[in-house]
Amino acid sequence: MAKLIALVPLLALAQYASAAVPVWGQCMRASGTHCVYFNDYYSQCQPGGATTPPPPTTTTPGNPGGTNPPASGTLNGRITAKGKKYFGSCADPGTLNKSTNVGRLKSDFGCVTPENSMKWDAVEPSRGGFNYGNADTLVNWATSNGKMIRGHTLVWHSQLPSWVSSIGDSATLTSVINNHISNVAGRFKGKLYGTCFDCYDWDVCNEILNEDGSYRSSVFYNVLGANFVKIAFQAAKNADGNAKLYINDYNLDSNNAKVQGIIRVVNSVNTGGTRLIDGIGTQMHLSTGGAGGVQSALTALAGTGLEVAITELDIANASPNDYTTVVKACLAVSNCIGITTWGVADVDSWRASTNPLLYDNNYNPKPAYTAVIQAMA
Ligand code: G3I
Repeated sequence: MAKLIALVPLLALAQYASAAVPVWGQCMRASGTHCVYFNDYYSQCQPGGATTPPPPTTTTPGNPGGTNPPASGTLNGRITAKGKKYFGSCADPGTLNKSTNVGRLKSDFGCVTPENSMKWDAVEPSRGGFNYGNADTLVNWATSNGKMIRGHTLVWHSQLPSWVSSIGDSATLTSVINNHISNVAGRFKGKLYGTCFDCYDWDVCNEILNEDGSYRSSVFYNVLGANFVKIAFQAAKNADGNAKLYINDYNLDSNNAKVQGIIRVVNSVNTGGTRLIDGIGTQMHLSTGGAGGVQSALTALAGTGLEVAITELDIANASPNDYTTVVKACLAVSNCIGITTWGVADVDSWRASTNPLLYDNNYNPKPAYTAVIQAMA
């Protein structure tokens, strides 16, 4: 009750918010605001610049039906206590239908990325024919559960309908990109602004480079040249000027030629005082023992001055050592703002046969989970 009374003046301060703060809503990032922490499940944006980092947590994640003893703290509670924005997971209606999975998402994660529902083939399967069923389900779940959202993805050569990949002239393709981004980013603009002003990221361009850092052959590059990147980011900026706009790719796991290629792209787009790209996403689908170069890669990417996020983490066999190497690398690089694992439990992973996630097939926390919690202590 005392806590409830203490909340009243704080809620009054939040009168700028157009929507009511949802029950259990979390707020961990907001331009021109700071975040006041109440517990692992509830924080609130208030006007002003200071940030009040949440204290170390002592709560335990739920362990419905679990066999392993739960580790102390939650993934999101721990990482936000370290000054990061979120620990997230991908999700979509298929996994939101599984109650144990949803329990884990609610208790341990602060952000969700739609695994498939916002991809081009899902939202615009025919030209101008937009279908938001699954994407809306994901966004509604996230907003009503106080989770941040990483939008994924606007321009990608894969899961691209053939009506797009068969376009051969630049004027048509430019118009199609602009229309797609304006519709999709426009639809979800400001969805979370009732609780936070900038709790929304977009992977604007996904996997646009080859391993040597050159541009990948795709309809976008083949028809428009490198200019397609600027076209896409400008369209996203026009559609949602408050969202953080990311370039996202895989195999950015050591300071390699692809990392240098991404840095070149960022510098060529963000020229002359224009900042279209806000962040770099490194997917981080790792092999066993593949985490050794991660900190040097994050440091190189952060050298652009942009924020960096680990956007699709999974590691074959999920050794505690590999996971903690990645998590510690993000903690050590101040511009690394968050970590998303590509799923909660192995059973739902796109690479399920390698058991790459933090929860096993029964949604019980694995040794890597406990190690990650301890690494963020
Ligand atoms: O929706 C259809 C369904 O109608 C059909 O019956 C079924 C038959 O196979 O396929 C379903 O689509 C599948 C889709 O996931 C939704 O479940 C596709 O076949 C399948 O290929 C697709 O896989 C996704 C993959 O991207 C596609 O490239 C994975 O779930 C998803 O985890 C994966 O995610 C990507 C990131 O977006 C980008 N980075 C790499 C990452 C892993 O590949």
